[in-house]
Amino acid sequence: MQDKLKRTLPPCDGRRRASAMRSVLAWNQIHETETGEPRRVYMLTFGCQQNEADSEKLCGMAEAMGYAVTDRQEDADLILVNTCAIREHAENKALAAVGSFKELKKVRPDLIIGVCGCMTSQDHRRETIKQSYPYVTFVLGTSSLHQFPAVLWDCIDRRRRMMLPEHPDDVSGGIAEGIPTHRASDYRAWVSIMYGCNNLCSYCIVPYVRGRERSRNRQDIIDEVRELVAKGYKDITLLGQNVNSYGKGLAEPCSFADLLEALDAIPGDWWLRFMTSHPKDADRRLIDVMAKGTHIVPTFHLPLQSGSDPILKRMNRHYDRQSYLDTVAYMKQRLPRLTLTSDIIVGFPGETDEDFEATLDTLRTVEYDMLFAFIYSPRVGTPAASMEQVDDAVKKARYARLLKVQEDISARRSASLEGQTLKVLCDGPSRTDPSVFTGRTPGNRSVFFTGTPGMTGRFLSVHIDRTEPYALWGTVIQ
Ligand code: SAH
Ligand code: SF4
Ligand code: F3S
Repeated sequence: MQDKLKRTLPPCDGRRRASAMRSVLAWNQIHETETGEPRRVYMLTFGCQQNEADSEKLCGMAEAMGYAVTDRQEDADLILVNTCAIREHAENKALAAVGSFKELKKVRPDLIIGVCGCMTSQDHRRETIKQSYPYVTFVLGTSSLHQFPAVLWDCIDRRRRMMLPEHPDDVSGGIAEGIPTHRASDYRAWVSIMYGCNNLCSYCIVPYVRGRERSRNRQDIIDEVRELVAKGYKDITLLGQNVNSYGKGLAEPCSFADLLEALDAIPGDWWLRFMTSHPKDADRRLIDVMAKGTHIVPTFHLPLQSGSDPILKRMNRHYDRQSYLDTVAYMKQRLPRLTLTSDIIVGFPGETDEDFEATLDTLRTVEYDMLFAFIYSPRVGTPAASMEQVDDAVKKARYARLLKVQEDISARRSASLEGQTLKVLCDGPSRTDPSVFTGRTPGNRSVFFTGTPGMTGRFLSVHIDRTEPYALWGTVIQ
């Protein structure tokens, strides 16, 4: 049965998707709820910005099928869990969340629960859900995102579970354009410019769960960004696992630097940013385009992973410490207001004290503004999982030391902003104290200040009065 469905749902079939969406919408209109209110969808997202962007599409499709988006899970008729597989902890969190819906399903037997995203693109995890979470209605891998309406319709119409298998061809399949999007914010937006990854870093699950790299057409991206700017979006982030290799395989070749330059020409008061860059592909032309840019913020997330050459080699990263430092030196020279952030993996297989010291030494040399550090987590099917592992206690001790070294660096970097007036995009009242407003600088640092409700979603000038390693405190000037 699953194979049959597979054949009748070819990748990126827009007509099939539209027809399924009409069927679900009609069903929702005919089968009214007891209160006469629309059915509701509750979306729970784990993982990176790419997943956030996918969740906005899933919500957009659900909305087009008659579901109202809710942030109260107990009100939901449809629950979607968009999962991440990057580390064991991420998978455990997603599985715990799925487990927590068991009781809700008892109270609301018609509740439909769908689990999607990177974790479910792995055979062994789909099997876990199939066997151990019988109340999950359907499972959808990343390659089947656009098939969500067809799968949902099948679950409703035939009242059965759907565990859609991932097929290697589909994982690297085409790109579905024109999917409705329910954006979580009306002033910050994600724009995926490419999907998948070809780098096969030896520790990483992403190429297996998101497939081979493929880029969206230049014009589709330009049209989307233009429309967002026209709607008043202020902060637009281009997304891809390795944005610097954008454009490969397109009928009309276009480099990432070319794309960025074309987007920067769109007039208005808005910020353009991107992530993630791979150090092996972050070339000088890209940095030159950023230096000339009007909207492109001088912010770079350039994951180092390790400062030790033998480790970088075993990670299959294709750069060494020196070439990385050369790229950083050029960035600092061309972008005087640069904010530089990075990812580090601590305890990669075979990492010695000497390797770890080389990483700390690189942090001190580069002086990142912020750092995202992760303890290495073996991923099923990746080459590093079968290499000799570092002891857990050693990993934890190194991780704590690295955070301490970085905290001192971040404190110094933040302190250098004291007394300056920065452009800040306001996010409104903070969650913990409504009298304190939050916002973000071009470098994505959090800023806290006293604000008024009309400021949300607007650019402000904020004088920085006081700094902490990872936050700034200031006064609004205008
Ligand atoms: N494509 C991006 C981000 C990938 S995932 C890039 O190449 O930078 C985000 C971060 O998770 C990675 O940069 C890496 O630091 C971390 N990561 C990936 N796999 C991991 C693993 N198995 N264990 C621990 N951290 C991992
Ligand atoms: Fe993973 Fe490497 Fe691809 Fe990033 S570049 S997604 S770390 S394989
Ligand atoms: Fe996680 Fe998938 Fe992103 S594995 S980090 S959600 S690409």
